[in-house]
Amino acid sequence: MLRKSIMGGNWKMNKSLQEATEFTKKLISELGTYRDVETVIFPPFPYLKMISSLLGETDVALGAQNMFWEEKGAYTGEVSPLMLMDVGCRYVILGHSERRQYFGETDEGINKKIKAALKFQLTPLVCVGEKLEERKKGLAKEIVKSQLTKCFTGINSSEVPQIVIAYEPVWAIGTGETATPKQAQDMHQFIREILQEIFDKKTANLVRVQYGGSVKPDNIKELMQEPDIDGALVGGASLDVDSFIKIVKYGEF
Ligand code: PGA
Repeated sequence: MLRKSIMGGNWKMNKSLQEATEFTKKLISELGTYRDVETVIFPPFPYLKMISSLLGETDVALGAQNMFWEEKGAYTGEVSPLMLMDVGCRYVILGHSERRQYFGETDEGINKKIKAALKFQLTPLVCVGEKLEERKKGLAKEIVKSQLTKCFTGINSSEVPQIVIAYEPVWAIGTGETATPKQAQDMHQFIREILQEIFDKKTANLVRVQYGGSVKPDNIKELMQEPDIDGALVGGASLDVDSFIKIVKYGEF
């Protein structure tokens, strides 16, 4: 298999400590030794250490929803890559559209974060995607190309296969409106073309590109049939453990 599929559950700012514990225990009982796809959950910061202890050596991995690019220092409210490693994270979501929209994140800042994640052997899941107005104006590809070009500036081609890209059209996030498999495939293929332009064909073929935006148990299968879709980054439907398990094990339903 050229690229192993990867399914991520992005909890965003949801769940109590007790709910997080119950979810994780059930997930381990169902997916603790499941290796057909890579499974990663992204709980809020305060729960990471506890969940990391529960996950232990199982085949479910842990990631954070964001981080800062510096190792330490006077950056009130921020969390560093070293801290994430320390509590057992191996993945980090960078540049989610909600970070861009509500917290002013830019491609330049995301670029610094990607470099910091790679330095500390965290796998970055880099989010890109156009807004509805941009798609309507026919600018979707231009926007995604510009985001990718800026986010990947100064990154060595040998490091690129460690990065996962999440294509998340902003108009499909939390709206119930999914991109059709054809729309998603079209953009995923384009993303690979851009990676080939910036780096080379081999690198472009190794990078995993997830789709994100209203993924549910009943649409995952058709999305995964597309040749350039290597998994999903799931928000709303990842909050319910049974629904997330169905998405991860999409091949069995
Ligand atoms: P959604 O969110 O599945 O709720 O649309 C996806 C995401 O924001 O990663």
